[in-house]
Amino acid sequence: VARMPAALAAPAAPRYSARGEALLERCATLSDHCEAFAPGLPGLDLFPHTQWQRLLRRHYRQAERPWLAYQTQGGLPALKEALCDYLTLSRAVRCRPAQIVITQGAQQAFELVTHLLTDPGDGVWMEEPGYGGAQTSFLTANLAVVPVPVDDEGMNPALAPQGTPPPRLIYVTPSHQYPSGVTMPVARRLALLEQAAAHDALIIEDDYDSEFRYDIPPTPSLQGLSDQARVLYIGTFSKVLYPGLRMGYLVLPEAMADTFRLAQARLHREGHYPLQAAVAEFIATGDFSRHIARMRARYRQRQTLLRQALAPAVKAGLRLSSGHAGMHLVAELESIEQETRLTALGRQARVTLSPLSRYYLGTPARAGLVLGYAGAPDETIRRAGQWLCSLWLAEVAASNEGRLS
Ligand SMILES: Cc1ncc(COP(=O)(O)O)c(C=O)c1O
Repeated sequence: VARMPAALAAPAAPRYSARGEALLERCATLSDHCEAFAPGLPGLDLFPHTQWQRLLRRHYRQAERPWLAYQTQGGLPALKEALCDYLTLSRAVRCRPAQIVITQGAQQAFELVTHLLTDPGDGVWMEEPGYGGAQTSFLTANLAVVPVPVDDEGMNPALAPQGTPPPRLIYVTPSHQYPSGVTMPVARRLALLEQAAAHDALIIEDDYDSEFRYDIPPTPSLQGLSDQARVLYIGTFSKVLYPGLRMGYLVLPEAMADTFRLAQARLHREGHYPLQAAVAEFIATGDFSRHIARMRARYRQRQTLLRQALAPAVKAGLRLSSGHAGMHLVAELESIEQETRLTALGRQARVTLSPLSRYYLGTPARAGLVLGYAGAPDETIRRAGQWLCSLWLAEVAASNEGRLS
């Protein structure tokens, strides 16, 4: 039998590009699903599965023949119309349906924005600490990612490091900063818009979970405050419906809408129109808003359960974030060492304790745990909360003993 010459044999180990290696490095933190505290996961146990399946079945049965072809519409027109009404009314976004491009989630929207608007080496201001998904898109595109510190009012442009490349893009989560949970007041939003104009930069507003607000009024979008030409608004159905849906959207400045629509069709291809039709109907009938209202009430209860479970630790000095909004709390820790210790114990117990330091690109200014409370059943949240409380109290007792002896 003829043997392939050694020189033609497959290489022993796959060789990846520099961009691929950068991406692989970012994959290390993809975690298995654990029982409690996975950040960003909605309450799938509360999702109206039967109603949803009925809706999906009907829309797949009624699928129109033209939907079988390649599409270049930037998404199903009925979905863009329903979304436009929803965003205008509930997020004070100023748009027309033609400005919307449907994507497979916020992540694909980041990819599209990066692809169309940046070249390698361009500067991007990124919230520090900030969202890993956006960091990954920017880093793997070889952009000069500049971490801009977040304070009590969100990204603080006055703290942007000197001597770094000017921003082409500025990424923010103004409604509910991820992961710190702070909301950006209007004055800071205006300052950010001013900075963007000074640098001729574009702002990416990631409005991922603004629907979940508990005891504060909703803040209108940054996009609605601006003259719109500078803000690209990104939304996702991952929190308000479910992440496996892989559906999100971009609201673009008028002048960019056609370009993005065509680029989406060229680069990612669009499709899944029966699924988009189901989402459109869910929104248009008001079921979507009712679902959000129900989830808001249930997530609030889950947050209360977690707070109750952690109450003895809070009494002993554990600091928790405000929890006015969102789907997670941040518990502050004393040191990165403590964070590492607790995270490892969490892994053993199959509880996701996400270290706050992981959200920093530079040296972490704070240590803590990001505790998602929306995604697990009440009893699991209570049990895992009590477990974490005992763990933290034992840590404090051990460190006090260490200090005394
Ligand atoms: C800040 C932020 N943006 C966006 C998303 C959603 O991303 P996707 O739509 O890709 O699921 C998340 C999910 O965790 C998030 O935390």
